[in-house]
Amino acid sequence: MSEAPHGAPIKTPGQLIAAVVAGFAVPIVIIILLAYYVDNTTRTGAGTDELSAQQITERIAPIAKVSIRDANAPRVYKTGEQVYQAVCSACHASGAAGAPKFGNAGDWAPRIAQGYDTLWHTALAGKGAMPARGGTSPDDYSDYEIGLAVAYMANHGGANFQDPPKPAPGVANGASGAAAAAPASGADANAAQATAAAAAIAAIPQTGAPAGGAAGGSADASQAGKALYTQVCQACHAAGVLGAPKFGDKADWAPRLKDPMDTIYNYALHGKGQMPAKGGSNASDADVKAAVDYMVSAVK
Ligand code: HEC
Ligand code: HEC
Repeated sequence: MSEAPHGAPIKTPGQLIAAVVAGFAVPIVIIILLAYYVDNTTRTGAGTDELSAQQITERIAPIAKVSIRDANAPRVYKTGEQVYQAVCSACHASGAAGAPKFGNAGDWAPRIAQGYDTLWHTALAGKGAMPARGGTSPDDYSDYEIGLAVAYMANHGGANFQDPPKPAPGVANGASGAAAAAPASGADANAAQATAAAAAIAAIPQTGAPAGGAAGGSADASQAGKALYTQVCQACHAAGVLGAPKFGDKADWAPRLKDPMDTIYNYALHGKGQMPAKGGSNASDADVKAAVDYMVSAVK
């Protein structure tokens, strides 16, 4: 009787080792396969279809988005068409709330008749159901960009307006800004004059309001007006650069003074032709008006 009792399957040390190894290895392989199986299935939210990568990105995106702008970077302006698409088309594409419809010459003709400057001013200030700046803030779109959108819309409604003059680069750019500043659009304008004016604008201090600029007595106001004129406006108005009415020249001013003072203030505040809004400065409205008063009083 050489057989082991009860017919035990493990008869040699080699078989014992094999059994021990298999005892460990088989469960490990099963666990690995299970883990792989579990991980490989796509889990979906209850009751939803499978999420695409884009949907997931949207879901996990932070709620508040912060966009950081470099204050010193040269500002990149949107085109009139871009501003129109982003903002104005909300009402002007369909003519909602009585807005003059884009491309509808009948809607636009009576508005165009008011002239570009009035339309630009209306777009900035608002009118009836038209919110000021189309409901945007000056941080979103500058006066200049709103002006481009006005020209873009009006020109598609039958007008032939020029784009407003591009604002001067910030004085932070200093002399290099002056050198880099391209003359506005100058299809017909004298290029040399335009370059001189661009340099003059770049040199305009942006610190604005001289002391006493606030609503003080009239003596204060005229002081502030004279100071702003000397700092800013004379860059063009002293010599009549770009066709600016010359300081103290009655013949230059007479046709302009036929407009009501409010209109003249508005031109100075919001720009007109080659005249940049506020002369390219960031002075307060009150100081700009005071500077207009100062210039006007010199030709009365
Ligand atoms: C919330 C709707 C709405 C948005 C957004 C809007 N507008 Fe208007 N807009 C109107 C309405 C309404 C009128 C007509 C106002 C009236 O004549 O009383 C109007 C009129 C105008 C006029 C003619 C003003 C005049 O004197 O007749 C101009 C120019 C204009 N919008 C420019 C713009 C520009 C530029 C934008 C984008 C930056 C813009 N609008 C965005 C509703 C809107
Ligand atoms: C870059 C040159 C430039 C600067 C700087 C400048 N202006 Fe002018 N200004 C002009 C030009 C050009 C005109 C003529 C615009 C036209 O009639 O098309 C003008 C016209 C005017 C008018 C007359 C508008 C009218 O037709 O009734 C007033 C008022 C005025 N400017 C005020 C100012 C004031 C105030 C400042 C300073 C805060 C200033 N300007 C700075 C170029 C300039």
